[in-house]
Amino acid sequence: MYKEKLIGFIEKVLMDELSASIYYAKASNELTGLGSQEVAEELKSHSEEEYEHFNQIMEFASNHGLLTSVNIHLDMSVVNYPELSNANAVMRKVQELEKSAIRDYKCMSMRAMLHKDIETAMFFREIMKDEIEHFNDLSFVNGDKLEVNNME
Ligand SMILES: [Fe+2]
Ligand SMILES: [Fe+2]
Repeated sequence: MYKEKLIGFIEKVLMDELSASIYYAKASNELTGLGSQEVAEELKSHSEEEYEHFNQIMEFASNHGLLTSVNIHLDMSVVNYPELSNANAVMRKVQELEKSAIRDYKCMSMRAMLHKDIETAMFFREIMKDEIEHFNDLSFVNGDKLEVNNME
């Protein structure tokens, strides 16, 4: 039961990480065109880090024999999010993506803890911390900030 939940979770976050990586990359390109260079650079580095998360999770899953085949359906509503030419809309969207990633990783980490699966709990907790950092890296745009302590 726990293992099935874990596999389902891994499939979900693999899609989310890939979608986020693509979205960040597209948003970064758009904002470069609009002259928001500082924000564009930040979004580009996020795009690379989300892709790195994707690879880390793939590696974790394969090292633990959790995925025999990967069937990823990209969330096109994220990838094709229409308001890419509006910097504020982009910010709202990425903040929303980061918040839901933080919630997901926190929830799975706690579930793993309850099942005494410390390694898995710690693995997802580290990714959660990166997502909190991502959220806060964007705070210069509209001042929204999360306290790490509140999320732990
Ligand atoms: Fe991520
Ligand atoms: Fe992130």
